[in-house]
Amino acid sequence: MNFWLLALLPLVNAWVVNYGTTCILYPEALVHNGQPVDDSPSIQQAFEMCGTNGTVIFSDNLFHVNTVLNTTNLLNCDVHLRGELRFSTNIPYWRTHAISVVLQDQVTAWLFGGENVNFYGEGGFYNGQGQAWYDANKNQSNQPGRPMSITFYNSTNLLVDRLRIIQPQLWATFVWDSKNVSVTNLFVNATSNSKWGTMNTDGYDSWKSDQLLVENATIINGDDCIAAKGNTTNLYVKNVYCEGGTGITIGSIGQYPETPDYNLNTTFENVKIVNSMDGAYVKTWQGTRIYTPSNGDWGGGGKGLVKNVTFRNFEMVNVGLPIQMSQCVYSDDSNKGCNTSKLQIEDVHWENIHGTSRFNIASSIYCSAERPCPNITFSNVNITGINTTHHLPYYDTDIQHEIFQCTNIIGVNNSGIPCNQAAPSNFSQWIYGNVDSSGLATLN
Ligand SMILES: *[C@@H]1O[C@H](CO)[C@@H](O)[C@H](O)[C@H]1NC(C)=O
Ligand SMILES: *[C@@H]1O[C@H](CO)[C@@H](O)[C@H](O)[C@H]1NC(C)=O
Ligand SMILES: *[C@@H]1O[C@H](CO)[C@@H](O)[C@H](O)[C@H]1NC(C)=O
Ligand SMILES: *[C@@H]1O[C@H](CO)[C@@H](O)[C@H](O)[C@H]1NC(C)=O
Ligand SMILES: *[C@@H]1O[C@H](CO)[C@@H](O)[C@H](O)[C@H]1NC(C)=O
Ligand SMILES: *[C@@H]1O[C@H](CO)[C@@H](O)[C@H](O)[C@H]1NC(C)=O
Ligand SMILES: *[C@@H]1O[C@H](CO)[C@@H](O)[C@H](O)[C@H]1NC(C)=O
Ligand SMILES: *[C@@H]1O[C@H](CO)[C@@H](O)[C@H](O)[C@H]1NC(C)=O
Ligand SMILES: *[C@@H]1O[C@H](CO)[C@@H](O)[C@H](O)[C@H]1NC(C)=O
Ligand SMILES: *[C@@H]1O[C@H](CO)[C@@H](O)[C@H](O)[C@H]1NC(C)=O
Ligand SMILES: *[C@@H]1O[C@H](CO)[C@@H](O)[C@H](O)[C@H]1NC(C)=O
Ligand SMILES: *[C@@H]1O[C@H](CO)[C@@H](O)[C@H](O)[C@H]1NC(C)=O
Repeated sequence: MNFWLLALLPLVNAWVVNYGTTCILYPEALVHNGQPVDDSPSIQQAFEMCGTNGTVIFSDNLFHVNTVLNTTNLLNCDVHLRGELRFSTNIPYWRTHAISVVLQDQVTAWLFGGENVNFYGEGGFYNGQGQAWYDANKNQSNQPGRPMSITFYNSTNLLVDRLRIIQPQLWATFVWDSKNVSVTNLFVNATSNSKWGTMNTDGYDSWKSDQLLVENATIINGDDCIAAKGNTTNLYVKNVYCEGGTGITIGSIGQYPETPDYNLNTTFENVKIVNSMDGAYVKTWQGTRIYTPSNGDWGGGGKGLVKNVTFRNFEMVNVGLPIQMSQCVYSDDSNKGCNTSKLQIEDVHWENIHGTSRFNIASSIYCSAERPCPNITFSNVNITGINTTHHLPYYDTDIQHEIFQCTNIIGVNNSGIPCNQAAPSNFSQWIYGNVDSSGLATLN
């Protein structure tokens, strides 16, 4: 049978081969002389046919995804990804059609979810073709309409195992409004081959979700490796390798006054962070609202509580700001507001953290004067500046030892933090140079 005859078959079921409750997907290109044809309609159809009490298999082929995918409300469904899902680089299309995820006015290319669902990456992978987005974005923050790769939404009892995402368009994975979601053996690689960076390519973020597991992840990217946004509770993260990017964080939270953020019971364990701007930290907005178009629109003034957070067994290699808390992460020098946040942070612990900092600073912990932080502790934290380990001096600074900054920590003398300087109110989440005796970081 030649492709011409196949093309005459009814469009319905075209490339979903259906055996009872199992749907196997084949790409349209196989019957279009290899020409790329949008496979999204077939994919939607497979989930409609087999998304309840069924199995959806992406065969080991190249699929072209040119239109948004909304495969939600699945029930008792197994998904096997054996081929490549190549998302198109039609930027004008995605910017006008990607699905809203509400948070920070962001959008997603694939909204996925349901109850009792298993998503297995079996040698297949998600190719976001993010280079087109990195180049179009030109190092801006949160370019409007730039979609997250895949969002796990309204899910209960979801397992995502061995998912591989290369060149994500924006955040690689996002868990939203879900409960009992496990992401295991995740691989993400966002690497730019141009002069533009991979801004906003977070590896894993969660929002308004409970009982979450991330176990075994390798994330190479240009933004947060893992970020627990507002109302993430009972998140357990273990065995993670983060390279590039901005480390492991709670936040940013406190952006929206109308919805307080409660981040309770979080453990991050056995993490290696290499060549990153940040390591293990907590970041909130300031207590006053400021116009910040790069983060959706207005931000700040949100209240809430961060309680019971442990960062345990971290190895840092060449990390800019290895340990931090900031309550004004998006304030700039002209609008600091670091003492205005009413978002309470307490019971945050760093245990067995070792490795090297890029500059002469290991930690900067700044709690808002409105809400000083109790029960912030270090135990067995040993971070040494790279230059110290090589017996080299630090440049442009009068301080040649490692700095641990503290401001507004309650009971600081029993905290185990070897504070040797006040934290200044003007650090965002990044520093670009050594700290001097004024507490400020030099620019280089
Ligand atoms: C799916 O399976 C559940 C539990 O076995 C059953 O209650 C339900 O009726 C099934 N739904 C369909 C559409 O077959
Ligand atoms: C996604 O599909 C569900 C049906 O499963 C529908 O209820 C919902 O409105 C769709 N969402 C969007 C944004 O299209
Ligand atoms: C969320 O999932 C539940 C089933 O678990 C379903 O009843 C509900 O309609 C879904 N909500 C939305 C907004 O899709
Ligand atoms: C990540 O992607 C870059 C660019 O494609 C590649 O050079 C690098 O080897 C990849 N890293 C891993 C660990 O696959
Ligand atoms: C864009 O940002 C990246 C780091 O995120 C940096 O390496 C690169 O030099 C910046 N590009 C330009 C052209 O400024
Ligand atoms: C995580 O990796 C370890 C070591 O390779 C392995 O023993 C463990 O089973 C993995 N966990 C999961 C959930 O796959
Ligand atoms: C978080 O949960 C609290 C309490 O249930 C609720 O009031 C608040 O609106 C939620 N915040 C978000 C961001 O949904
Ligand atoms: C936090 O963990 C404790 C101990 O497991 C538990 O009792 C409490 O309910 C958890 N808090 C939330 C918000 O789930
Ligand atoms: C803190 O959270 C961890 C889970 O991340 C939980 O095991 C522990 O019981 C919680 N502690 C308290 C005091 O709630
Ligand atoms: C400090 O926090 C830990 C858990 O995060 C908790 O078990 C302990 O009771 C807290 N200590 C005080 C004095 O509140
Ligand atoms: C801290 O780490 C440095 C460099 O790795 C090492 O020389 C030093 O002995 C360590 N200190 C402690 C108390 O472990
Ligand atoms: C570390 O030493 C090298 C070599 O002297 C120098 O180029 C570099 O600027 C120093 N790093 C810092 C953070 O001061």
